[in-house]
Amino acid sequence: MWRILATVGDGVRESLSNTSQRSLTIIVLFGLVSSLLIVRLHLIQARTMRELVALAEREAVISNGLRRKKERLRTLFQAMPDGVAALRHDRVIDEANDALCEMLGVSLSQLRGATHREFVQLLYRGRQPSRHGCSAAELLAELDRPGAATEFAALVEFDVPDSPTYEVRLVHAANGNGTVLVLRDMTDRIRHERMKSHFVSTVAHELKSPMASVAGYAELLAENMVPQDKRPRIYQALRSRAAQINGILSDLLDLARIEARSTGQAEMQKVDMNSLARSVVANAFSEERRIRIVAAREPVIARGDRQQLERAIRNLIDNALKYSEPQSAVEVAIAAADAGDKVSICVLDKGIGMTQEEAHMAFNCFYRAGRPGGPSGTGLGLTIVRQIVLQHCGEIVLDTESGRGTSVTLHLPAAA
Ligand SMILES: Nc1ncnc2c1ncn2[C@@H]1O[C@H](COP(=O)(O)OP(=O)(O)O)[C@@H](O)[C@H]1O
Ligand SMILES: [Mg+2]
Repeated sequence: MWRILATVGDGVRESLSNTSQRSLTIIVLFGLVSSLLIVRLHLIQARTMRELVALAEREAVISNGLRRKKERLRTLFQAMPDGVAALRHDRVIDEANDALCEMLGVSLSQLRGATHREFVQLLYRGRQPSRHGCSAAELLAELDRPGAATEFAALVEFDVPDSPTYEVRLVHAANGNGTVLVLRDMTDRIRHERMKSHFVSTVAHELKSPMASVAGYAELLAENMVPQDKRPRIYQALRSRAAQINGILSDLLDLARIEARSTGQAEMQKVDMNSLARSVVANAFSEERRIRIVAAREPVIARGDRQQLERAIRNLIDNALKYSEPQSAVEVAIAAADAGDKVSICVLDKGIGMTQEEAHMAFNCFYRAGRPGGPSGTGLGLTIVRQIVLQHCGEIVLDTESGRGTSVTLHLPAAA
């Protein structure tokens, strides 16, 4: 009985130990599989993390690049001398640069968010366009143009003296995606171009009359129409016209040379104005006994171009002698001024002087206060003086009174 029970007990134990062995195996296997799964999961997670980090790095690089590009564009936008505005599709200003604000005399906050209509009002400020200029209505219509990619350019000029002139350019993006507006200040360029063409026509006009005289006299001589005894007078007239033409041309060449130097070739050096004035008088006016130089013993040193300063002083002394009585004195006074920062040279006469109107125009090209039988000249002498002084960053003071005399003072920078 006990043996039977023991056998049964062994069987049960054996089957029990089999069962627990299987469970153990299953548990071990499960543990193994789970561990493998966890390891794999960790690996996947680590890879994903690495990919995410790489992605974030790439994104940072791209966004840094974009930010740098945006900053560069912004700097470029701000550094542009032209006024620029970007308008949205609804014609409202989205962005504008400082140059545009300055041109219109408004702040950036006033411009941002302004409509194209408000912009046109700020630009025209009630002023009427000049004969050459585009009207406010035209500009508004162009800003309103819907749709296709187009470009427009026009001159904005007002019917008011001394007002600025602008060139306005519009570039519309395709599909009405906004507009870029560029405003360029053309005031100086247009003024310069007009002055140039005025100058050319004045030169042509000034040369035309002596040339016509030369041609007329030559014709008379060629046709043998002048009796022998009258010929010397014709020759004399021809000589004087030729001298007039020569005078104009050499003054014009001097003016052109001085202007060319003002664009970079000036030779600035230390120039003792006392010795310069003395050498001008000794060389160009050696026969004249009317000129008196008033100067201190010690040198008065200016910074300038010796040749040009010589030319300026020669022109002033020439005028002082020409426009005063043959026996009246002409004074050339040189002094240091402005606590040694400036040098002044003044040429003074007690001659015919000028009226206020004449004085206003005296420095204009070819201007001559027309007095019949008066001294000859080209009307370029004072223009040349003005140009020389401009180039030296100096100043001219003209003090004159009709019938009493004239003084012209040049203030020039002293040499350091
Ligand atoms: N010292 C002066 N006194 C009176 N008038 C002068 C004097 N200097 C210049 N002017 C006037 O200014 C004009 C322009 O002078 P300038 O340019 O030197 O020309 P130009 O001497 O060839 O006539 C002269 O024609 C003259 O009418
Ligand atoms: Mg002169």
